Amino acid sequence: MSETIKTRVLVVGGGPGGYVTALRAAQLGLQVTLVEGDRLGGTCLIRGCIPSKALIHAAAKFSSVREAAKQGGSLGISLSVEPTLNLSETVRWKDGVVNRLNEGVAGLLRRAKVQVISGWASFNDARSCVVQTASGAVTITAEHVVLATGSEPVALPGLPFGGPIISSTEALSLQSLPRSLAVIGAGYIGLELGSAFRKLGVDVTVLEAQDRILPLYDSALVKPVARWLERAGVAVHLGATVMGFEAGSLFARSQDGKTLAVKAEQVLVTVGRRPRTQGWGLENMGVDMSGRFVYVDDQCRTSMRNVWAIGDLVGEPMLEHKAAAQGEMVAELIAGQRRRFNPVAIPAVCFTEPEIVSVGLSPGDAGAGDIEVINAQFPFAANGRALSMEASDTGGFVRVVARKHDRRLLGIQAVGAHVSELSGEFALALEMGATLEDIAGVIHAHPTLSEAFFETALAGLGHALHV
Ligand code: NAI
Repeated sequence: MSETIKTRVLVVGGGPGGYVTALRAAQLGLQVTLVEGDRLGGTCLIRGCIPSKALIHAAAKFSSVREAAKQGGSLGISLSVEPTLNLSETVRWKDGVVNRLNEGVAGLLRRAKVQVISGWASFNDARSCVVQTASGAVTITAEHVVLATGSEPVALPGLPFGGPIISSTEALSLQSLPRSLAVIGAGYIGLELGSAFRKLGVDVTVLEAQDRILPLYDSALVKPVARWLERAGVAVHLGATVMGFEAGSLFARSQDGKTLAVKAEQVLVTVGRRPRTQGWGLENMGVDMSGRFVYVDDQCRTSMRNVWAIGDLVGEPMLEHKAAAQGEMVAELIAGQRRRFNPVAIPAVCFTEPEIVSVGLSPGDAGAGDIEVINAQFPFAANGRALSMEASDTGGFVRVVARKHDRRLLGIQAVGAHVSELSGEFALALEMGATLEDIAGVIHAHPTLSEAFFETALAGLGHALHV
C-alpha cells in the first residue's frame, strides 16, 4: 500500500546532525518528519564515537588489570591469576550502551512528536522522495528538506571490505580477538582502535602513507602518542604504500623502496571517510557540489531553495558536534530566526593514548601569518592531579598560542591522559575571546588537570608558578 505525506520539514538521516535538527525544529513548533534507513543515532552512536569509546574504556581496564597481574604494579595492587577477556561479553556490554542511546534518541523524537519513517529515502526531485518501508512505499513532499546523510568508510582499491579486511564498523563488533591486526592509516580511527586492540593483547602493526602519525596534528602534539605506541610494542611503518593482502600477509612498499610483509589475521582499513552522496537520488535534486561534498553557504543552504545540508555531507571536519551545531542552526533558520554558522573554533579530540585536544590555531598555523604571537606550554609532570592518577609521565602538556599585542588566545592544545575533558573549557575560552589574563584571573580548582591550563596562561604572561 502506498501512502503520501506532506510535511513542513523533512530531515533525511537520523544521526546526530539529523535528529538534533528534528528535535530543535519540533521544539520551535514545526511539523517534522525524519527518515532513517538504519538505526536512530547514526554513525556516532551506533558504530562510531560511542561504541569506540566504550571499547577503548574496556581495553584500558583490561590492560591495567593485566599489568597488575604481571608486575605486582607500583600501586601495591597485585593479582595472582592472569585475567582473561571474553570479547563477546565486552561487545554485549558495548551494545547495551549503544542500545540505551538509540532508545533514548527514539524516545526524545517520540516525545517531541517527530514523525519517524524507517526506510531509505530516494529523491526524484529537490523536495520529494519515496521511502520503501516495511509496510510499503511512502511518498513524502516537504516545504524544507534537510540533508544529513553522513559519511561512510573509504575502501582501498585492491582491498575491498569483506572477510579479513574490515572497517571500523566490523572492528567494533568482533566476537573474538585476532592474534594479529594490521591497521592501514594512522589517523583518528586507526590509532584509537589500534591502541585499544593492543591493550587487549593483539599484535598490532600500523601502516601509514605519510611520514608521520596523525598528520592532522603537529609533531610536538603527537610525540607522546608515538612514544606510547613504541612502548606498547605497536609496530608503526611510515611512508608505507599498501599493495595487497595475500595468504595472511599484507604487502606494502616502504619509504626506501623495500617490500614489507606484515602477517595479519585481520586488516583494519581506516584511510578516511567520504560523504554519503550516492544511492539516494542526490543527483536528481539539482544541488551544487563542492568537490566531493554538497556545497552549502554559512547558513547550510544548498544551491536549491529550501534544501539544506549539514554534517559530514558538507565538509570537514567530519565531527559529531559540528553536525549537531549546524542542525540546530538550520532548524532555527527554518523557524525564522537569524543565525549563521561562524564558530571561532571547533574542538577536535583524539582518544588515543594519551588523548589529544586541539582548538583553534597551533603555533605553526599562527606563525605562518603576519601576527606576532606568544607561545606558552606547561607540562603535566608538574601538575599534582596528573601525578596522583599516574597521568604525569606521558610527556603530556597544555599549550597556548596568543596574539602578542593584546594577548588574546588564538589556539589551545593539550596532550595527556584524560585531556578530552578539558576541551569544553578550551573551546569556551576561544569562543568568548579570552586573553591570557582572563585565564590567569580565573581560580581553577585544585587538584585538577585544568590547573595546567591556568599555569600555561601564567607561563604566557611570564610568571608560571610551578615550573
Ligand atoms: P583520518 O583522515 O583521520 O586518517 C586517515 C589516515 O590514513 C591518514 O593519516 C592518511 O594519511 C592515511 N592514509 C590514507 N590513505 C592511505 C593508504 N593508502 N595507506 C596508508 N595510509 C593511508 O581518517 P579516519 O581515521 O578513517 O577517520 C575518519 C574521520 O572520522 C576523521 O576525519 C574524523 O573526522 C572522524 N573521527 C573522529 C574521531 C574523534 O573525533 N575522536 C574519531 C574517529 C573518527
